[in-house]
Amino acid sequence: MEMIFEKAVEIVKKNGAELTGRDGADTIREKGRTDYVTEVDIRVQRQIFAELKELDPTAQLLGEEKENEGIDRKGSIWILDPVDGTTNLIHDFQHSTISLAYAKGGKILFGVVYDPFHEECFTAELGKGAFLNGKPIQVSKKEQLGDCLTAIGTSPGCREHADENFARMRRIYDQCQDIRRIGSAALELSYVACGRLDGFYEENLKIWDYAAGSLLVTEAGGTTVIEGPDTMACTPKIREEFQKLLKITEEERWNG
Ligand code: IPD
Ligand code: CA
Ligand code: CA
Repeated sequence: MEMIFEKAVEIVKKNGAELTGRDGADTIREKGRTDYVTEVDIRVQRQIFAELKELDPTAQLLGEEKENEGIDRKGSIWILDPVDGTTNLIHDFQHSTISLAYAKGGKILFGVVYDPFHEECFTAELGKGAFLNGKPIQVSKKEQLGDCLTAIGTSPGCREHADENFARMRRIYDQCQDIRRIGSAALELSYVACGRLDGFYEENLKIWDYAAGSLLVTEAGGTTVIEGPDTMACTPKIREEFQKLLKITEEERWNG
């Protein structure tokens, strides 16, 4: 299996040039309000899936830019977000990634998040640790939220929850050093894994957004909560405080 994962990393890295080159990034279709797909997303998914199919013809392919009906979640699956951070790509904001994970029996066994703009490749294999460009990485050792830099996603596809989401963000902001919002959930999770960020939360993410990144965090010694609409990741010592502040009160829920 290790060979296959190494090859998958090569395939992903090779496609990084599609994001930096931006050929077709101006050909945009709106899938939903503020949910975009460009020619780059489509091409990268097509190219990566074609090569993965050759590599392992038995594995199923689950990708953001295709119908995914009939996927057996217990079987072996490649889970791909061909461009995580499409809005960033459209604006040439230079923070977009390719995120690929491999799952079997309902467990994520491998993940790679590649940021071609900074040539940073984050990889993890279950039980074998997490790496940035081949060097081991660890989550931060922060013990108090007051010393932390955290990222909160704005859930752009879920604007009806904006009030409660920004209230949640405000509660965290009041207790931590500052908040960041990069615009690629996979990259934000990777930054928690390597200790640049101490925590991350976003509501309403999809499996292709967090599959690889969540494995990176846990393999780097961090903790994650992926439950219903919530994706939370952080360094272990702040978990209790972070989670408590993220909790939506009934009142906010009703008013939201
Ligand atoms: C989006 C990014 C963004 C997050 C959105 C995602 P996409 O993925 O991860 O950071 O806020 O919720 O949908 O659409 O660029 O692949
Ligand atoms: Ca995404
Ligand atoms: Ca995407």
